Amino acid sequence: MKAQTELGEFKGRIAVVTGSGRGIGRSIALHFAARGADVAVNFFRNREPAQATVNEIEKYGRRAILVKADVGDLEDLNRLFDEVQAAWGGLDILVHSAASGYNRPAMLQKPKGWDWTMNINARALLFGAQRAAPMMESRGGGYIVSLTSAGSTRVLPNYVAVGASKAAVESLTRYLGVELISKNINVNAVSPGVVQTEALHHFAAAGGQKAILQRFLDDVPAGRVVTAEDVAGVVAFLCTPAARMIVGQTIQVDGGYSLKVPR
Ligand SMILES: NC(=O)c1ccc[n+]([C@@H]2O[C@H](COP(=O)([O-])OP(=O)(O)OC[C@H]3O[C@@H](n4cnc5c(N)ncnc54)[C@H](OP(=O)(O)O)[C@@H]3O)[C@@H](O)[C@H]2O)c1
Repeated sequence: MKAQTELGEFKGRIAVVTGSGRGIGRSIALHFAARGADVAVNFFRNREPAQATVNEIEKYGRRAILVKADVGDLEDLNRLFDEVQAAWGGLDILVHSAASGYNRPAMLQKPKGWDWTMNINARALLFGAQRAAPMMESRGGGYIVSLTSAGSTRVLPNYVAVGASKAAVESLTRYLGVELISKNINVNAVSPGVVQTEALHHFAAAGGQKAILQRFLDDVPAGRVVTAEDVAGVVAFLCTPAARMIVGQTIQVDGGYSLKVPR
């Protein structure tokens, strides 16, 4: 791995951010690019915002490649890493931000929705890590960070499949963290509080976007919602040598929300 500057800059680093065409993933990709990294932008359904993310990265003077891949599909997932290897010959940072899910009560879940959700949110981390680790090892080490959510341990309306997938993400993070640290690869996860993205539109059972934001605002000790940039900053920190001894952890970025007993 090339030496990092004391300022924690990512110059010369290569990052892959799954689901980085929009939402939190986009902010993470731009954050890394602003601090010097070249970034592979992955999208699945929405090419236009993903191309816009690439254009923004290039405005920072960094290199970007755009890879359409369904990370829940193993062939597509493998192709994502093949394309990065072919373009840049290695990898330093993998951020798994892509997520999807079938939101409905447990009694109405179907095997197809379960498989879909688990494959994108959780399986992609395990098999993505299998591809990323050797690419990182050849550069002396690296960092893997996943996005998870409070639904991994709390019960949110209609969130059973995503919640279970996020619990798997956190467990995988612990196992991968312990297994890979000897190769100088840090694996951790970040669990944000409510961030205003299009994801909130999928939670009608929780009252929709406005109600979710208001409920969070009513109780969050920090007094405001979490921004995608708040999340990106912590993800980036976990990809610096200063975080080397943080192994297999899930870091809450929620302004203290999860600590409070609900009124
Ligand atoms: N927003 C929040 O309040 C919140 C809170 C806690 C945790 N999180 C977590 O933070 C992460 C980002 O959330 P977000 O709010 O930014 O979500 P979002 O706005 O719904 O965006 C989802 C992203 O995932 C991508 N994606 C979905 N399915 C994919 C697939 N099969 N293959 C590749 N990419 C795929 C989408 O790409 P396309 O548009 O191209 O399909 C999009 O870029 C997720 O892991 C989420 O669980 C979010």
